[in-house]
Amino acid sequence: MQQILDDIAAQMALETELGQVADYIPQLAHVDPNQFGISVATPDGQVYAAGDASTLFSIQSISKVFTLTIGLGKLGNTLWSHVGREPSGDPFNSITILEYESGRPRNPFINAGAIAVVDAIMMGHEPREILGEILQFVHFVADDDSIRFDHRVAASEMAHRDRNAALAHFMKSFGHLKHEVNKVLGVYFHQCSIAMSCQQLARAGLFLVSNGVNQHTGIRVINPQRSKRINSLMMMCGHYDGSGEFAYRVGLPGKSGVGGGILTIAPGKGSIAVWSPGLDPVGNSKLGLKALELLVEKTGWSVF
Ligand code: DON
Repeated sequence: MQQILDDIAAQMALETELGQVADYIPQLAHVDPNQFGISVATPDGQVYAAGDASTLFSIQSISKVFTLTIGLGKLGNTLWSHVGREPSGDPFNSITILEYESGRPRNPFINAGAIAVVDAIMMGHEPREILGEILQFVHFVADDDSIRFDHRVAASEMAHRDRNAALAHFMKSFGHLKHEVNKVLGVYFHQCSIAMSCQQLARAGLFLVSNGVNQHTGIRVINPQRSKRINSLMMMCGHYDGSGEFAYRVGLPGKSGVGGGILTIAPGKGSIAVWSPGLDPVGNSKLGLKALELLVEKTGWSVF
């Protein structure tokens, strides 16, 4: 595995088409696009890494996997009255289907869906308490207490929140949000701002590799059925309107973020985190996708 990752990192270093760094969040516009990291955590406790795998980056929408898991833990199937389970086929920040579907977002991984999940898990609590809970959960699954929010990234998103605020107000107008919009957005932007390395993220994904048990710590995080279902959602909706392309080229459940990270789960085999800040037009890491394509080609990992 180490050799495979070294080869992939060497190959990615030769790439010249890196894509565009997300600049609609000013703090992310400053990130150097010439970076690439990859890490694989396996159920036997090994963590392999190559390239910039220990550099911290903004996990952004990858955090939606963690808040979905928390939401299902708190609300069980009631969560599905707040958000759907269908791919949207639309950009991650689109508002169009929301109008046709009475303000109920298609799935928990588009922005509107993730905002609805935050509202559902707040249950009358203050943002500070929910953020503590989210960070504690990430510490638990990653088995690493050093992981933090990047408050500058969160503040940058709050200052440029027009689109997400529009989504939230629109949902609220249909009665789908219970809490104050700015409080919900404050939580949402902080969860997106969590800074992690590929190594930390690969470990944090392990519970989805072994039917809900993090084999690294030996602790059951969720039950097997829930683990399967979160993986299904990642497969169908994890890359927004690029989900079909990701399933076609990689064939594994995955979740991307505009920070350039992708968390990918090879059930029974390993949890893979890749990061390269340059994005394709849909908002998914360009080199990340290429690297994952190479990894599955070399390992034969696939759910098919
Ligand atoms: O709300 C936003 O736009 C960002 N905090 C997260 C978007 C994101 O990561 C979409 N990913 N491809």
